[in-house]
Amino acid sequence: MNATAEAAARSDALVVFGFTGDLANKKILPALYGMVKRGELAVPVVGVASTALSGEQVQQRVRDSIEHAGGVDDARAFDKLLSLVRYVAGDYKEPATFAALRTALGSAARPAHYLAIPPPLFETVIRSLGATGLAANARVIIEKPFGRDLASAIALDAAAHAVFPEASIFRIDHYLGKEAIMNILYFRFANSFLEPIWNRHHVASVEVTLAEDFGIGERGGFYESAGALRDVVENHLFQIVALLAMEPPATPGFAAVHAEKAGVFQAMRKLTANDVVRGQYEGYRAEKGVAADSDVETFCAARLFIDSWRWAGVPWYLRTGKFLATSAAEVIVRLQRPPQRLFDDGEPTREPPNYIRFRLQPTPAIAIAARVKRPGKGFVGEQRELFLCEDEAGEEPTYARLLGDAMAGDGALFTSQDAVEAAWAVVDGVLAHHPAALSYARGSWGPRAADDLIAGAGGWHTLDAKEGCPP
Ligand code: BG6
Repeated sequence: MNATAEAAARSDALVVFGFTGDLANKKILPALYGMVKRGELAVPVVGVASTALSGEQVQQRVRDSIEHAGGVDDARAFDKLLSLVRYVAGDYKEPATFAALRTALGSAARPAHYLAIPPPLFETVIRSLGATGLAANARVIIEKPFGRDLASAIALDAAAHAVFPEASIFRIDHYLGKEAIMNILYFRFANSFLEPIWNRHHVASVEVTLAEDFGIGERGGFYESAGALRDVVENHLFQIVALLAMEPPATPGFAAVHAEKAGVFQAMRKLTANDVVRGQYEGYRAEKGVAADSDVETFCAARLFIDSWRWAGVPWYLRTGKFLATSAAEVIVRLQRPPQRLFDDGEPTREPPNYIRFRLQPTPAIAIAARVKRPGKGFVGEQRELFLCEDEAGEEPTYARLLGDAMAGDGALFTSQDAVEAAWAVVDGVLAHHPAALSYARGSWGPRAADDLIAGAGGWHTLDAKEGCPP
């Protein structure tokens, strides 16, 4: 595409539905500020939410959000952002709200509508955008979770397609915009040494953990309709699994990546109640917006199988939770042990196997663990990690990357509907039928039953959020 055509295709306004919400406050406004600083955003930003706010209050919200995310370090960029922001207050069900949005958009003719709102409102807003002519030449960016099960995901997709063509629909899973997660794809297919061992013959098990040491905060209302399985496992963790498990794309470009990832979801065995442990942190039921008898899980561990030629029989263990012992995310790919004991090391079954570790958060790194001989007469060794550590400086914040891509019409880092539906099909049964959530202490690693789930693979790996890069 030449520069003129590209500029014509670029969205000429960004509409943020849910402007006063948690997501906008914590991630979107700081991302927009970063985009303005880097010269990537110069079009109107129209916030929409139900709360009536004066112009001054809107500006104060923007300032508070950016202060909270690290502060204003570029006064000109901050002033520029304030000059771009407009605000519309109104009920998403009222046509008047969309008429006011039309006015606020001024001469903008190709807006990108970003739905950072509770999922039950997605369809209402999409329909209104269609009915009021605001969908013409526009894009829609939909936050996860897309639906709350397979049937509602199909219904949401139909509602979106009634108004927008597929090329204008962007399904965000912000994990796909994280450097450390994009690096899984790169590391796997930019190197040739992994491929020979990346299969059921050499990999014994895989563990993916996303731990958070904080609770649901102000998000009780949303969380009660979601729970950890819908909020994190079915999307963020499944996306990580797909990148780790996918077949090599046959051709360059993201269309082939999307197809191979969808293939992983399609090959995942449907989860049953025996594969899942659900937990709830102590005190969750007393949180704001939470039912006194809530059974919603704030912790979820799952044992997953991918019934493909490459992965048959290899267990994948996934785990996430709020109020756990630390905030960190990591993948461990455990390799098979050597078939024979040749040295004076301990019992091979007791020694940790070799592994490849992708540390995703807080400081991304890749470590390859292998045994080396200790100096001395005996043939005794120990496992050491060979560390590949990437300095995070310079990383483009995830939401800035994704919003910029969507506004430019680039769907590479977004999810396809095939993948969404196949992923829901894996969890649908267990969403409907599961044992009650088990209580766990804040600051722990979740209910003990989660340890039993992975006992056969040697237990969960311990994550250390303070771990830095070796000198
Ligand atoms: C969001 C979930 O999608 O991802 C949150 O709704 C979770 O519950 C968050 O805390 C984790 O994202 P990150 O980027 O902070 O690891």
